[in-house]
Amino acid sequence: MGDQYEVSEAGAGALAIPSLRWEEPPEGPVLVLLDQTRLPAEEVELVCTDVPALVQAIQTLAVRGAPLLGIAGAYGVALAAARGFDVEEAAAVLAQARPTAVNLGYGVRRAVGAHRAAVAEGADGRAAAAAALAEAKAVHAEDIEASARMAAHGLELLGELLPGGGHRILTHCNTGALVSGGEGTALAVALAAHRAGELRRLWVDETRPLLQGARLTAYEAARAGMAYTVLADGAAGSLFAAGEVDAVLIGADRIAADGAVANKVGSYPLAVLARYHHIPFVVVAPTSTVDLDTEQGADIEVEQRPGHEVTEFSLPSQLGAGAPAGAGIPVAPLGAGAYNPAFDVTPPELVTAIVTEAGVVSPVTREALAELCSTSRWS
Ligand code: MRU
Repeated sequence: MGDQYEVSEAGAGALAIPSLRWEEPPEGPVLVLLDQTRLPAEEVELVCTDVPALVQAIQTLAVRGAPLLGIAGAYGVALAAARGFDVEEAAAVLAQARPTAVNLGYGVRRAVGAHRAAVAEGADGRAAAAAALAEAKAVHAEDIEASARMAAHGLELLGELLPGGGHRILTHCNTGALVSGGEGTALAVALAAHRAGELRRLWVDETRPLLQGARLTAYEAARAGMAYTVLADGAAGSLFAAGEVDAVLIGADRIAADGAVANKVGSYPLAVLARYHHIPFVVVAPTSTVDLDTEQGADIEVEQRPGHEVTEFSLPSQLGAGAPAGAGIPVAPLGAGAYNPAFDVTPPELVTAIVTEAGVVSPVTREALAELCSTSRWS
């Protein structure tokens, strides 16, 4: 892929990973995605010319992570509009591509709303498509800004929670530049600590079954020159017991009105461990991840994924380039049943703080969350 995936000129600590971009070649507009299923083995791009291709990329996790799903969903609507497809139908299909990350529907609604408003004002197809694209670009730009603000708020919070620096931070799944227009959510905070010379170690949960931690967070941490160590998810308990963790930082896919946090499966056990060991458990997410229409954690729809993701190694990055579709390497007896929820829900009482671009909520209460979300976007 050449230089665009090298550590940027800003030097160690800077991430420059273009996870997604809009292009307008003569053949027509396209959405270009870095295929995350192939990382870290290969840096391969996927070029989406239509909504079904984008939906497939979302469902196979070629493009993933809550904020990036919002950006991709918005560009998907713009793509449908620019290429003359049925925009309302495209929006409906995109919004349902995965159920848990609220940002996907948020991004889609923003772009389709702009398209509708333009049509209502008498815009022709071309002008309405331009309005949808402008909105997608706005969603993208806001995410970059939100990411920087979360990093600043999160760094300040870490300073308060852990005076003395030298933080050893445990994280789960992937929350960096690969999920964002900017540097992400939880990983953006860890990066800020790294740049401030305050990160002693980033503990990276491998994040079974699709290994977002081992494959993607480790890829990002290595590029940024962070001191990091990958561990099997089940090793987290002994790490806490050994006194090796100062704080847990994770992202979120949806935060209910009561402050319950849906995030990658395996987050809830970390919250329980953190409480037992009196360690702060901090969630970093933009306010676009807060869903005040979902009353409580139990109301969040958790995506159930195919069992073969648990019973086989089937990622392209595991199988190698050119492996035939469906060729998985079994790690369980043929026919073994599997339980494979993509996310779990952590109750608000286990969450020390929620860091957003608009500020920090701690303690996490329904009232405090509602108030934060009602204040101006960048307050
Ligand atoms: O299934 P994925 O890889 O899309 O899950 C992603 C996560 O759970 C992330 O932790 C979450 O989206 C927060 S990213 C800022």
